[in-house]
Amino acid sequence: MLPEASTVAHNFERLYDFIFWVSLISFVGVVLATIYFVVKYHRTRRDPFKTPYITGHSAMEISVSSVLLVIVMLIFYFGWVDYKRIVTFPTDNTMEVHVIARQWMWQFEYPNGRKLTNELVVPKGRDIKLIMSSDDVLHSFYVPNFRLKQDVVPGSYTRLWFNATLTGEHPVFCAEYCGTAHSKMLGKVRVLESAEYDKWAKDWKPGEAGANTNPVDYGKDLFIKKGCLACHTVTGQSLVGPTLLGVFGKEEEMSDGKKVVVDENYFRESLMQPQIKVVKGFPPVMPTFQGTLSEEEINALISYIKSLKK
Ligand code: CUA
Repeated sequence: MLPEASTVAHNFERLYDFIFWVSLISFVGVVLATIYFVVKYHRTRRDPFKTPYITGHSAMEISVSSVLLVIVMLIFYFGWVDYKRIVTFPTDNTMEVHVIARQWMWQFEYPNGRKLTNELVVPKGRDIKLIMSSDDVLHSFYVPNFRLKQDVVPGSYTRLWFNATLTGEHPVFCAEYCGTAHSKMLGKVRVLESAEYDKWAKDWKPGEAGANTNPVDYGKDLFIKKGCLACHTVTGQSLVGPTLLGVFGKEEEMSDGKKVVVDENYFRESLMQPQIKVVKGFPPVMPTFQGTLSEEEINALISYIKSLKK
């Protein structure tokens, strides 16, 4: 049996147990009933017409259906409760980590710019939010000990959150066939006690080997280099395009009247296919950046825009 290493693992395990035992008991029941009926009603030489003609038995049918309905509804109820728990993202005191999946490795990018390959280090008991994208094909981030799995899709962000309850190393698998070395696309989540984690985090300075600058600074740099400033201010005024000050997380009205929440996926789409959702009152003149930005650069631009708070 796998360790239960996240706040949701126990519930999923109980649900799995329930389904397993219901299936096992039903299976044994069906096999025993089959044997019993074969023995009882088989045709013999002495009694060649032993089986009576049966047209139906309403009471029996209703009671069997009711029992099955109760079991299915129980599975649905527990599944629904747990599902709601994993898709409701915590907002307070979360730690956000960008995950980039590529053939065939996992890259983790911390808010301070620290990058790790195939290893995610997190403190125990803290809500961790993963914002995941893929550089090439479909992958799936799977941590069996957490009982959590989420597809990682090229061209879009998917999200996953967890709160680890057990220190130690928990294996990460790719759970979507992604090419030759799919089975070797392995990583781990290393969970440390809070104090130990703080020490680990402090032991690193931006600019050290294997590291990049802070993604917010990197994003700011790109924002200037890619010419974004020509149309978007970061100070609140509108030019050809809307300002980007304080827009992250806000609801904006689009030119077709629809309301859209400005989140990671909205920014990605606006960079790649800017004409799909144009903010009301602005001309659809933004050029596409499709093929000219790497996953890291898109993440950095988004980190910068997120940091522009009023
Ligand atoms: Cu990545 Cu399979």
